[in-house]
Amino acid sequence: MIDKRLEKVVNRLKGKEKIRVLFVCLGNICRSPAAEGVLKAIVEERGDAARWQIDSAGTGGWHVGQLPDKRMRIHARRRGIELDHLCRQVQAHDFDDFDIIVPMDGDNETNLRRLARTPEDAEKIVPMAVFVDKAMRYDYIPDPYYEGAEGFELVLDLLESGCRKMAEIL
Ligand code: 4NP
Repeated sequence: MIDKRLEKVVNRLKGKEKIRVLFVCLGNICRSPAAEGVLKAIVEERGDAARWQIDSAGTGGWHVGQLPDKRMRIHARRRGIELDHLCRQVQAHDFDDFDIIVPMDGDNETNLRRLARTPEDAEKIVPMAVFVDKAMRYDYIPDPYYEGAEGFELVLDLLESGCRKMAEIL
């Protein structure tokens, strides 16, 4: 059975020629640039890259201009994914520039809802966990920043599940 929130976003984006996705986390150096890299790799593998515009941003601004965290780059590279995004902070105009804005956890979602200017902006916010296979038993993407290697691997597993689903249904 398809989740109600998935059904809603599928209906809203149905028939769109181009899908513009912005992934959002706290620092924009671990989870969201990894999501950006994972989805880019998946749509390229599917021969569908031209239909997608994929970017990421952070609710916080501590790392603006930096490459993703070295640990995340190493774990992604092991899966054949190079992360070259430069950190930026999310802005209100991102709601104009993207069709779907995807927070990694509940705090990111709360911060995005504060930034939304209209109900139409708010409608664009769809948590990453909505796309992740229920069998993975996570209803958010946990922050790996203070974790070890397992935390980074878990994030990549969750993101692969969610991004595959996203590429399939949108
Ligand atoms: P991210 O992880 O939100 O997945 O990029 C973090 C990165 C940096 C910090 C927190 C979370 N920080 O506090 O600097």
